[in-house]
Amino acid sequence: MKIALPNHIPFDQIVKQFGTPVYVYDLDEIRSRVERLKKAFSFTLFDLFYSIKANPHLSILNVIRDAGIGVDACSAGDLWLAEKSGFCPEQITFTGVGLSNELMSRLHQKSIRTNLDSASELKRWCALSPSRPVGLRVAPDIKAGFSEHCQGGRWGEKLGIGLEEIPILIKKAKKYGVVIRGLHMHIGSGMLNSAPILKAVDRLLPLFEQFSQLEYLNIGGGLGTSYHDDEDEMPVEQLAQTLCSKLKQFIKFHNRPLRLQAEPGEFISAPAGYILSKVMVKKIWNRNGERREVLILDASMNHYPAGVLYNSMNRIYLLSTPNAPATHKYDIFGNTNQSGDRFGGARYLPEVKEGDILVLGSCGAYAASRASTFNEHLLAPEIVVSKGQVALASRGQTFEELFGRMTSKLVWPKQ
Ligand SMILES: Cc1ncc(COP(=O)(O)O)c(C=O)c1O
Repeated sequence: MKIALPNHIPFDQIVKQFGTPVYVYDLDEIRSRVERLKKAFSFTLFDLFYSIKANPHLSILNVIRDAGIGVDACSAGDLWLAEKSGFCPEQITFTGVGLSNELMSRLHQKSIRTNLDSASELKRWCALSPSRPVGLRVAPDIKAGFSEHCQGGRWGEKLGIGLEEIPILIKKAKKYGVVIRGLHMHIGSGMLNSAPILKAVDRLLPLFEQFSQLEYLNIGGGLGTSYHDDEDEMPVEQLAQTLCSKLKQFIKFHNRPLRLQAEPGEFISAPAGYILSKVMVKKIWNRNGERREVLILDASMNHYPAGVLYNSMNRIYLLSTPNAPATHKYDIFGNTNQSGDRFGGARYLPEVKEGDILVLGSCGAYAASRASTFNEHLLAPEIVVSKGQVALASRGQTFEELFGRMTSKLVWPKQ
């Protein structure tokens, strides 16, 4: 899937005004991807939530709220942001891991729709919130997701509850007056075809047949997008068509409503984001006829850890001539002292000079939200573009902010 650098984003102006490295988010693209999902799933009872952790920037959450959809929160911080952005409890779904009693009580008090990840948390929920319905996250024993670090559907591992345990837990919860209202799954991230999701849904539907109290099926996120030209994104329209007709059949046969929910993050925000970075150093290795060209940028794995974590192959464009023939081969690195801090090996681009600006595509998800200050590097500013207008959404960090929490005046307890 070839994707050209969009010409409605004034990248040059952004570099001049805000410098590099800098994140850029195209809010129009986010709006259009949300509308695409809403339309695709409009043939059944459907609730769409944006997964905050993909990119929690307030400007993006505002777009999500204005588009009339909800958010998926997975932590106390997500919940705080969701509330701060004006989402009401009905617009929030919460599926966290390792919940404290304090967080459970907050979810209960605020009437947030919650899905629990273990039998142990359900036991605590029943003790703390005996009247509050809840959902359960299921691991349908399916291996899916682009990396083994992002596979949440396998039996016997970290996430979810085994299918075989669900009927037992539904009955146990009932004894405490807690109704299990729905089932949730998130079997993996970055899935590029619908087969694993459909297979997982087929494994969950018998539970909906068995327990008429189950009102919703949340299929999680994991709708993958295209990071390089050899990759096509998840065919969401095809997935939606098959899922909607499965649910329609269920609803007709059992004569009761069943809501479908989805909570994608990457699909909505990844393709809408870019990192602009300057080429600081061009290094040429030359020995016995072997030649290698290395580019070192002013961005690093701090700004886009996925490059190193998953060996990602994001599209990279030369800003001055993005469509010129890609005649030169480069290994492209970030500017920390880690040898593995790499944006791409053996990448073909037009000839690049020091001072040129490179644009890294598909950086709207799991980029700034995973950024670090390793090597004492500062967090980069975030810029949004909407309807042809450019605005600063987060300023860059200062050293005072970075180091201001530390103190050298240690107060030791008196002996
Ligand atoms: C419970 C849950 N829902 C939704 C998501 C969003 O996933 P993605 O960004 O792959 O769509 C995640 C990601 O880890 C998740 O853990």
